[in-house]
Amino acid sequence: MEKLLDLLTQEMAKAFAEAGYDEKYARVSLSNRPDLCEYQCNGAMAAAKEYHKAPIMIAEAVAKALGGSDMLEEVQAVKPGFINMKLSPAFLCSYLNGMDGDERLGCSQAEHPETILIDYGGPNVAKPLHVGHLRSAIIGESIKRLGRFMGHHMIGDVHLGDWGLQMGLIIVELKKRQPELVYFDEAYEGDYPEEAPFTIAELEEIYPTASARSKEDEAYKEEAMQATYELQHGRRGYQALLGHILHVSVTDLKRNYANLNVEFELWKGESDAQPYIPAMVQELKDKGYAYESEGALVVDVKEDSDTKEVPPCIILKSDGASLYTTTDLATLVERRKLYDPDEVIYVVDKRQEMHFVQVFRCAKKCGIVKEETKLRFLGFGTMNGKDGKPFKTREGGVMRLEYLIQDINDEMYRKIQESRPMDREEAEKTAKIVGLSALKYGDLSNQASKDYIFDVDRFTSSEGNTGPYILYTIVRIKSILKKYQEEGGNADGAKIQPCENESEKALMLELTKFNGVMENAFEEIAPHKVCAYIYDLANAFNKFYHETKILGTEDEAAKKSRIRLLGLTRKVLETCIDVLGFEAPERM
Ligand code: ARG
Repeated sequence: MEKLLDLLTQEMAKAFAEAGYDEKYARVSLSNRPDLCEYQCNGAMAAAKEYHKAPIMIAEAVAKALGGSDMLEEVQAVKPGFINMKLSPAFLCSYLNGMDGDERLGCSQAEHPETILIDYGGPNVAKPLHVGHLRSAIIGESIKRLGRFMGHHMIGDVHLGDWGLQMGLIIVELKKRQPELVYFDEAYEGDYPEEAPFTIAELEEIYPTASARSKEDEAYKEEAMQATYELQHGRRGYQALLGHILHVSVTDLKRNYANLNVEFELWKGESDAQPYIPAMVQELKDKGYAYESEGALVVDVKEDSDTKEVPPCIILKSDGASLYTTTDLATLVERRKLYDPDEVIYVVDKRQEMHFVQVFRCAKKCGIVKEETKLRFLGFGTMNGKDGKPFKTREGGVMRLEYLIQDINDEMYRKIQESRPMDREEAEKTAKIVGLSALKYGDLSNQASKDYIFDVDRFTSSEGNTGPYILYTIVRIKSILKKYQEEGGNADGAKIQPCENESEKALMLELTKFNGVMENAFEEIAPHKVCAYIYDLANAFNKFYHETKILGTEDEAAKKSRIRLLGLTRKVLETCIDVLGFEAPERM
């Protein structure tokens, strides 16, 4: 369905033309004075300059031409030259019935569906998932769902950090502990055991121990670097160990992401890009893009318009080792070969912005991606504690994601039991569902690039701009609909009728914004816009609910109409929270 604002703009264009003015001035927007009107057009002010007339004269002429429109019930020209409008209730409800009858609730699919690869999550193998990775997972998942809803072919890649010194560290530490393991025997030619020589708990202890030790012990670090080198150059035993590390880690990661309702199509990592490096480097050299500078191989990526320095992109270090940049470039080679995406979106900590500026420029300049491939970086800010500093545990350590989720669920459980006792099992299940909404909404409702304060108490509150508030609203609607059914009501096939009071109209107007919000949120890769919308919608619904008889009304037709309206509100809210990556319980 066309967006309501577009329909109004078309109607306005006709009126401008009829009054003898250029249609380009006809853009209609939401009113910024909702006390006076619902929509407005400011075009007369701009047109006044071209036509050398007082804006109010133009506005009056256009308003008069618009007078006959059956989309509007009120049109007013107001000084200095605004055209203020109110929608006709009949037109409004025909629009809503259109939405209600459409399985996409009036939101059109992308005309040209694209293949969009989204790189998010980005956990590092063998290191526990911590809150730093939480934001990437939550935001990325939501963008993927949003894109999918808009009809694009979205491919999520977790892009594991599975390459580099951390692997060498684990190998060396393991060797110290269990030197007898067959993986360390260079003469060994047989098959390696299928079972990993460690559990996830051991692995998560091995890495930090090794990492701490390497910072104090130079020789140990040397050993780890050597092991990393040998691993990367094909030493069999080490590669077998890498296989185990990956498997054990990924199993654990999948469990964690499942708790977050986050799923990836691809479980690729930095190591998958390595085979593409030699040919890529050779090509960069052959084509003359890469040159040697102080022993390293680099590509210049600065541009004249730069306001801050953009250093050359280092492709290989002087010792021939590849870097994070090299891996990301080679990953683009791989992605083009395997998936040929129209666009790649990276959801990564904003502190990595310069890295991506370099990678994107280099990829474009050297033809690693096609000219028309869009590369987008969505950098997110830090999640801070109440003290305004990066979120830590009470002891000051890095908070593991699982514990953070547990904290939220416990608080949610307490709140649920406090407000509405239910049996333990149901309360636990509900706390999990609602807790996830608290966590995700708390994050997604902020513009991604901003830092935000993680506040369990606020996030889990059922009042204010929170996930639980949205869920309460949905649960309220569900329970009214259920009660209606239990009373033998049936509104199948009934239509929404013109509104009868202000709050009903306000709710209706809010609903019509759905398609525009989704389109815009996707274009700007901005899930916070979906949050802002459902918060407004939930507020509009609750106001309507408090001021209007729904099941209590005697008028059967009005009752059916309101039931349809509730049903539509529910569908819109549920579609939005699904895009945000959480769901509503049956009751709470
Ligand atoms: N593993 C990286 C980190 O923890 C994030 C990876 C982001 N994606 C990428 N293609 N570089 O910082």
